[in-house]
Amino acid sequence: MPDTVPPVPPAGPTRSAAPSGPADPALPGAIDPGDGGPPGEAASAERGGIQLINVTKRFPGQATPAVDNVSLTVDGGEIVVLLGPSGSGKTTTMRLINRLIEPTSGKIIVAGRDALGLDPNDLRRQIGYVIQNAGLFPHMTVGTNVGLVPQMLGWGKARIKARVDELLQLVDLAPDQFRDRYPRELSGGQQQRVGVARALAADPPAMLMDEPFGALDPITREHLQDELLQLQEELGKTIVFVTHDVDEALKLGDRIAILDKGSRIVQYATPKEILLNPADEYVEQFLGGGQAMKLLKFSRVADVPLQQVPQAAPGDDAAAVRAQIDAAESTFAIVLDERDRPVRWITVDDLDGLTGPIGDHGTGTARPIRVRNTLQQALEALIQVEHEWVPVVGPRGVYRGTVTLSTLQTAIKDMKEQTRSRRRQDKAADS
Ligand SMILES: Nc1ncnc2c1ncn2[C@@H]1O[C@H](COP(=O)(O)OP(=O)(O)OP(=O)(O)O)[C@@H](O)[C@H]1O
Ligand SMILES: [Mg+2]
Repeated sequence: MPDTVPPVPPAGPTRSAAPSGPADPALPGAIDPGDGGPPGEAASAERGGIQLINVTKRFPGQATPAVDNVSLTVDGGEIVVLLGPSGSGKTTTMRLINRLIEPTSGKIIVAGRDALGLDPNDLRRQIGYVIQNAGLFPHMTVGTNVGLVPQMLGWGKARIKARVDELLQLVDLAPDQFRDRYPRELSGGQQQRVGVARALAADPPAMLMDEPFGALDPITREHLQDELLQLQEELGKTIVFVTHDVDEALKLGDRIAILDKGSRIVQYATPKEILLNPADEYVEQFLGGGQAMKLLKFSRVADVPLQQVPQAAPGDDAAAVRAQIDAAESTFAIVLDERDRPVRWITVDDLDGLTGPIGDHGTGTARPIRVRNTLQQALEALIQVEHEWVPVVGPRGVYRGTVTLSTLQTAIKDMKEQTRSRRRQDKAADS
């Protein structure tokens, strides 16, 4: 798929001069915008996108470039995953973005500004970096590691401590328990969390995360992925995330760039597009089959049309509810409370001989699933209930509809049909 380069977004408000002084170029983590304002403001003012334009990196003495003429656009606030085999140039690409290494040729734009024209330290103030294998400084406590960048920026002690504690809490490490420990006294997963906290310390608008959850057991890994997604909901960073784990890429990426040698982009698309329409055999091989199950796993309930059944309130008259059920050719109605949350369902049998308000007649509903749950979670819920449907709720538990097995079947069929018709179109276009 060709990788287009949209116009560069306008630069955000100019930041005031940042603290000077030599910074260790190997230092992972971001540095404060230097505007002295509360951290959250900087990020919302400038949710900088990242753009690589024909970037090449040739290491001296290497026959082929590690990064070969790569163009990639990451929009502000999105998570882009670089997915590629070992040695394909993922880490090199990341280090080019924050200028820990310099490109041989090409252009890099960060938050609307030419990164190569900026002071590298200024640039790194805007980009948090979570390096492969957490990369904490072993001789520093957790608190010192996390507070490193703010300290370099000359924040006051109290402000640093408050920020460190806030971040540790954010990544689910109780500050009192973890602040004063050394990295070796932490599990791998805890170290990774500290790495994430450190990169977030000065609230940079962008984050580079290089296999931050590599080398963890699947459960811890999933847990940290969920945490990252939740954090991202709140923080809205621009994130470039490197992995060679397909499931991780599908789960986290708003878009995924599938890379071959030299960071060559073979396909750059949403997870769904990639699953439904892999660009070529290389991508198909990378996905490793089982696409239908993956589709269930990576499609959300919000993406499929829900089934609608008659709705009732406890104060509704039994005869009226019955008439509504009959009119809809249903066998039951769902009963919502005063805040439109599903509480019970009432069948025609329950209504038999009933007069006046339905009150609390009927049966309690199964635990609702949420619109942001995956179709796989919906399937699991359906397998566990005795009847054939589960209620779906949106924010604040408000009822949206129901999902049944046939909802899922139809969804998969529709998605496949879309692919087929797209393939037909592609073929027609080729010939
Ligand atoms: N400093 C360097 N000098 C020479 N060659 C390098 C240097 N850094 C990386 N390379 C080479 O560039 C290529 C890409 O390396 P890179 O670390 O970017 O791969 P990667 O995709 O991150 O791999 P992994 O998944 O194993 O981390 C490799 O062939 C590597 O040997
Ligand atoms: Mg790497």
